[in-house]
Amino acid sequence: MLLTLNVNGRKREIVISADEYLLDVLRKLGYLSVKRGCDTGSCGLCTVLVDDKPVLSCSTLAVRAQGKNVTTIEGCQREAERFAEFMAAEGAEQCGFCAPGFTLTVLALMKEYENPTDEEILHYLNGNLCRCSGYVSQLRAIKNFMEAEKK
Ligand code: FES
Repeated sequence: MLLTLNVNGRKREIVISADEYLLDVLRKLGYLSVKRGCDTGSCGLCTVLVDDKPVLSCSTLAVRAQGKNVTTIEGCQREAERFAEFMAAEGAEQCGFCAPGFTLTVLALMKEYENPTDEEILHYLNGNLCRCSGYVSQLRAIKNFMEAEKK
């Protein structure tokens, strides 16, 4: 079947089979920031945004994204680089493997919540398990980043 996606603001078309997952289709299209970790919907590493909502691409059939807006980290480099500065300032840098999915989840959080509590931030991120630099320093970085982006 022919799948049409709007990836990072660009219309993409690709012939797929009905049982292909979004992760594999995005990688075939060249979005190599989308990584495979557990491949069971448990680690959050493969997170992309579909219509601005975090989605585990390893367990989402690509057909579910037909005609939708898909965002990978390639589509938000400015925000990702700026967020990375805040992570570094808190000593929360990541090895890079989980950073795309983690960063996209943070960007979705910012769209959904204007002033989230610590509990809301932690709840939002609890599907992103792969985080080699810890959790508390990342919480500080997210709060600082969100505050700075409001200005
Ligand atoms: Fe998709 Fe782990 S690779 S949740």
